[in-house]
Formats: sequence, structure tokens, C-alpha cells
Amino acid sequence: MTLLVTGGAGFIGSNFVLDWLADPATRDEPIVNLDLLSYAGNLKNLAALQGDARHIFVQGDIGDRALVDGLLAAHRPRAVVHFAAESHVDRSIHGPGEFMRTNVMGTFTLLEAARAHYAGLSGDDRAAFRFHHVSTDEVYGSLAADAPAFTESHTYEPNSPYSASKAASDHLVRAWHHTYGLPVLTTNCSNNYGPYHFPEKLIPLMIVNALAGKALPIYGDGLQVRDWLYVGDHCSAIRAVLARGRVGETYNVGGWNEKPNREIVHTICALLDQLRPHPEGPYTRLITHVTDRPGHDRRYAIDARKIERELGWRPAETFESGIRKTVQWYLDHADWVADVQSGGYRDWMSKQYGAA
Ligand code: NAD
Ligand code: TYD
Repeated sequence: MTLLVTGGAGFIGSNFVLDWLADPATRDEPIVNLDLLSYAGNLKNLAALQGDARHIFVQGDIGDRALVDGLLAAHRPRAVVHFAAESHVDRSIHGPGEFMRTNVMGTFTLLEAARAHYAGLSGDDRAAFRFHHVSTDEVYGSLAADAPAFTESHTYEPNSPYSASKAASDHLVRAWHHTYGLPVLTTNCSNNYGPYHFPEKLIPLMIVNALAGKALPIYGDGLQVRDWLYVGDHCSAIRAVLARGRVGETYNVGGWNEKPNREIVHTICALLDQLRPHPEGPYTRLITHVTDRPGHDRRYAIDARKIERELGWRPAETFESGIRKTVQWYLDHADWVADVQSGGYRDWMSKQYGAA
């Protein structure tokens, strides 16, 4: 048995690959990892697997139908786990085209390849096959302060080019199940954080900027709320859904950890004050309020009762344990940070934050 993972050199994908090949329950099942190595993909995330025959890395585009067909034919995976995407809201505002190309058309190509592959399967191989689509809570749009958390039946109301492209991909996945019978699973997860998180997103950006003595830019009033989940818990949720999820179903994944951005930044500063105190005083001195993101969603919150009830999944980390581990990971991996902050990263920082 083999898995075909897309986007397995990115933040969540690389954590998934590393966890899969470390877990005694799955470690004997090899992974074929198809990743374009965009700015967000990094083989250094997978350095621990160098020379390991259980990890077959293929650099390529999910939109390359011939390549995907070839991989499915050669490796006959029992499942496709689809992480590959453009994932950063701010980049989607500056340039939505790539989001449509990868998230919408790339997913379409992958579904078509999976459909053709599935049509050729029979017996146990056909019964076991799954297409697992990894998606986000952002497809549901923004919640009022007192509204109940997103359930799986919440209306789709995406507000950013990123969330619109992910919503489109979710709809394609749903349609390929209903129309063609492709055995799909979809997970919609809240904001992740943890090791190998590219420092353009809130939590890693605040950690690496603080350590470099740079400004900590909070958009608008900083009272926007996100529901944070440690990346390892997202990976364990995907494993649970892949193993036991009902075909055609959607599962919301979250940690019941709603926090305003300002609190997140203050928590990171307090941890750094403890773990790497600075002679000039608390890291909160670096906080600046900058112009808000256009169309900024005010609040996301996940109701994770379905996955808990049906599959018995629960997060292992609290926010307090997960954020401490994460800050420590960045302190211990200055070389990884320096590596991802080369060329293209600096261009993005000056485009988004000016001279910061
Ligand atoms: P990421 O940006 O860190 O990684 C994306 C990976 O996809 C990179 O390795 C990149 O090289 C690869 N990729 C991009 N375009 C590709 C293409 N055309 N062909 C092949 N590979 C390509 O993203 P992430 O944060 O790890 O997110 C992974 C998935 O999880 C995405 O689908 C995202 O929408 C979803 N998700 C993310 C979060 C989060 O908080 N980060 C939360 C919920 C869901
Ligand atoms: P982000 O990590 O980009 O995730 P998403 O937009 O997908 O939720 O941002 C998380 C929150 O942090 C979001 O409300 C925007 C805010 N934010 C800032 O305030 N400053 C920043 O520099 C960044 C990158 C994000």
C-alpha cells in the first residue's frame, strides 16, 4: 500500500509525511510526495527522510495531468491526500491568479486523474480507494462575535480570493463524489501553527520578527479571532478521517481555541521574554498597529463535535502546550529560519510591510 500526498513539502504536508512515517501504525506504508516546491515548499522540512526509501519525492505540478496519471499508474496508491495549494490570504489579495490555477484548476486536474484511476480499479483496491481533500474553515466566511461556531452544514460564504478558491475546490470534490462516485473525504480545519510554518503567517512571523528585533505588525485593532490548532493534531485528524471517515462526508477540525490576534502576539512575547529575554526589555515594545487587511474576516470558530463523536478524535495539545513547543522549535531552528528568509521572502516582506 502507498499514499500519494500532494504539497507534502509545505507546512502541514511535511508535518503529515513526517508523522505518518514515524507512527508505528502507518510507518511501513510509503509515501509518494508530489510537490511543485513553490516559495512555500521546502525539502529541508523533510531532511530527516533523506535516503529513506519510504519517501519518494517528485517535484511537479498537480495541474500536470500526464505526470499525475503516471504517478497513479506506477505507484497505485490506495489514497490521495491533497494538501497542495496556495495558502496565504495576503498573497491572494496581491495576486489571485495563482490561487485559481493551483487551488481550483489543480484540484480539478487531480480529481480527473483520480477518477480515471478509480475507474480502472476493482475488488479490494476499489473498495479501499480514497481521495482526501484538505481544506479550511475560511470557506464558511466570517462569524459575528456571538454566533455559534461553524458546523459542517454552515453556508459557504468565502470572502478572500484564497477562501473563494478553496471553496471552489471543495465544491468540485463534492461534485466528483455525487456525479462520478469518487470516494472522497473532506476536512475543513481551523488555523494551524507549529514547526515548519512559513514565517509569512501570523505566529511564525511574530516569532522570527521578535527574535530579529523587527516590528510586530498587527493588522487593524488586532481583535480578529482565529481558532488555533497545533499542526500535529490536524495531522492526527486527517489520519482518523482517512482510516474511519464516512465516504462523501465533510469533517470540521478545530481545537476549541478561539483567540484574538492581539492575545496571540502577547503570548508569544511573554514566552520569548522567558526563553530568550532581551536586554532592551519586553518584546511587546516591538508591537505596531498597521493598516488592516482588505476584507479581513473578523472571526472563525470550528465546532468539532462531529469528528469527535463519529471518529473519537480529539486534539492532544492545548494552546498553551502547543505554542510553547512552537516558540521553542523556532529558537532551536535558527538555520531553517535563515534559509527560508532568503531572496523571494525579502521581496514579499517589503511588498506587504514596506521597509519593515
Ligand atoms: P503551504 O503554503 O505551507 O504549503 C503548500 C505546499 O503546496 C507547498 O509545499 C507548495 O510547494 C505546494 N504547491 C503549491 N502549488 C502546487 C502545485 N501547483 N502543485 C504541487 N504542489 C504545489 O500550505 P499549508 O499551510 O501547509 O496548507 C496545506 C493545505 O492545508 C492547503 O490546502 C490549505 O488550504 C489547507 N489548510 C491550511 C491551514 C493553515 O492554517 N495553514 C488550515 C486549514 C487548511
Ligand atoms: P494568517 O496567519 O495570515 O492566517 P489567516 O488569515 O488565514 O487566518 O493571519 C492570522 C490572523 O492574523 C489574521 O486575522 C490576520 C492577522 N495578521 C496580522 O495581524 N499581522 C500579520 O502580519 C499577519 C501575517 C496576520
